[in-house]
Amino acid sequence: MDMEVTAWHSLHSTMNAQEDRRPFSRATLRRIGAFARPHRARIGRFLLLSMVTALLAVATPVLAGRVVDAIVRGDDAGTVARIALLIALIAVVEAGLGLLTRWLSATLGEGLILDLRTTVFDHVQRMPVAFFTRTRTGALVSRLNNDVIGAQRAFSNTLSGVVSNLVTLLLTMAVMLTISWQITLLALVLLPVFVVPARRMGTRMAGLQREAAAHNATMGTRMTERFSAPGATLVKLFGRPADESAEFAARAGRVRDIGVRTAMLQSTFVTALTLVSALALALVYGLGGYYALRGSLEPGAVVALALLLTRLYAPLTALAGARVEVMSALVSFERVFEILDLKPLIAERTDAREVPEGPVSVEFDGVSFGYPSADKVSLASLEEVATLDAGGGTQVLHDVSFTAEPGRMIALVGSSGAGKSTIAQLLPRLYDADSGTVRLGGVDVRDLTADSIRATLGMVTQDGHLFHESVRANLLLARPEATEEEIWDALRRSRLDGLVASLPEGLDTVVGERGYRLSGGERQRLTIARLLLARQRVVILDEATAHLDSTSEAAVQEALTEALEGRTALVIAHRLSTVRAADLILVVEDGRVVERGTHEELLAIGGRYEELHRTQFEKPASQEAARPLG
Ligand SMILES: Nc1ncnc2c1ncn2[C@@H]1O[C@H](COP(=O)(O)OP(=O)(O)O)[C@@H](O)[C@H]1O
Ligand SMILES: [Mg+2]
Repeated sequence: MDMEVTAWHSLHSTMNAQEDRRPFSRATLRRIGAFARPHRARIGRFLLLSMVTALLAVATPVLAGRVVDAIVRGDDAGTVARIALLIALIAVVEAGLGLLTRWLSATLGEGLILDLRTTVFDHVQRMPVAFFTRTRTGALVSRLNNDVIGAQRAFSNTLSGVVSNLVTLLLTMAVMLTISWQITLLALVLLPVFVVPARRMGTRMAGLQREAAAHNATMGTRMTERFSAPGATLVKLFGRPADESAEFAARAGRVRDIGVRTAMLQSTFVTALTLVSALALALVYGLGGYYALRGSLEPGAVVALALLLTRLYAPLTALAGARVEVMSALVSFERVFEILDLKPLIAERTDAREVPEGPVSVEFDGVSFGYPSADKVSLASLEEVATLDAGGGTQVLHDVSFTAEPGRMIALVGSSGAGKSTIAQLLPRLYDADSGTVRLGGVDVRDLTADSIRATLGMVTQDGHLFHESVRANLLLARPEATEEEIWDALRRSRLDGLVASLPEGLDTVVGERGYRLSGGERQRLTIARLLLARQRVVILDEATAHLDSTSEAAVQEALTEALEGRTALVIAHRLSTVRAADLILVVEDGRVVERGTHEELLAIGGRYEELHRTQFEKPASQEAARPLG
């Protein structure tokens, strides 16, 4: 009972966020047009083929009427045979054209998928880190898969269907009117009865489709999150599997309901249309037969009218269905465009330059920073909330200034949450400073190309994430052209060669999701090996040895010292040995640099550093490892 209440509650909060029925804007259609533009030659050919096909479709019933007339008139067998042959010929050509048209529409649709997918992928890749810290991976993946395919359906199935069916419809009607306008009009009076509800149903379907898409995305997110090794572990340790299942079931149930409702709406419509078409046919036979008996209409004309009528309701049914399909496909287009509309907060300038050659200095000049609020970096529909938090953005860094001359090493120390990692993240532009300037080689990082920053700056982060790929692939990420010897050399220096050699497939062993099969220390040593391999001119170590025990730390420290030689370094340190080696120590507290100087100078002041030194650095190794500083 309790479980169900929770499930329904969370279900309803998303539903309310999603259940709006906006009409589609002209702007959306214009943008779809922009995506179609590169394919316009093919679209033109397609339209031409559709018209030829429609012409042929009208020809057959008219010819059939001629056969009846020939029989009634008692013409010779040759005439009948000639018309029959013509009908056969048309059928063959129609079949061929049908295949050709389908090929054209398929290539159009698949081409569109390709364009949309690559565009969205490129765009998402350019989003800043802040975006990824907010959005749910599953929701993003769903946009790239389900919605892109949904959008494509608008093209290959419907847009094409709409055009050819519309041409067929108009042509058929025109021919029918010339044969007998009275009968045609009577047969068509029932038409409006269907066009009007079709419109309303389209809107209703679009709303349902939107809701289903939202639920599917949420379920996808849940699965990618919960079914990853760390997520599953967390659920096993702390989660409430029954609650999770209940909520999942509630959502899946709602998707089922929507599926049934959609199917019923669609089939009610089709059934009704089929019925009307049958009734109209009876009317043509009855009324046409009456006219023919009175001699005011040829018998062949009655047959032609009846045949044309059956060909009239087929495109009509398709058109009504197409409307619904177009509506739901437009929903997908909108969801895709929504992502494309998110402007990356951090973008490379068009006139960006390279980091200058030679040794590089690192400079912070009056830098203040607060993490951006959600509404600046994300989309409500990707986070499963109704509106995004506009607040937040509390200032984390206050007027931070320092300079690391080329080849010098700066150590940042301070308690946890002081802002050390934040300082480190501003250098590679994972975030941009709100005020003040961050410079690399004397140039504002905002004026530098992303590629040259990557080539200049190496970083070992606190969590040391690894891709679910081979050890080799994870290492080569930083320097794809590295040779086998260089790889092993880096592994040796980070004291990982023994382990990798003992792995079942050596360098080609896949390290699990989030590098899960490696221990924290091994993972960290692998990211250090990557750093040694890439050999960038500036190095940032964010507690790079925090996960190592004292023996392996001593060994890795050697490798790191070697890696740091001659390089400009920013080291967030938690070990006295590292701090002592620094040319300058900055003590960071509450986002401010509160003390600066060398080890001896700072000890002499007897301030915060002295306190940290006394309480943190001088603890026995075992305790130090258990609670590293910062
Ligand atoms: N992505 C983020 N969004 C919002 N606040 C953050 C984010 N990352 C860190 N913070 C906050 O910024 C402050 C500084 O964090 P951090 O730089 O990681 O500290 P340190 O590395 O010194 O332990 C902390 O109060 C932390 O909660
Ligand atoms: Mg940190």
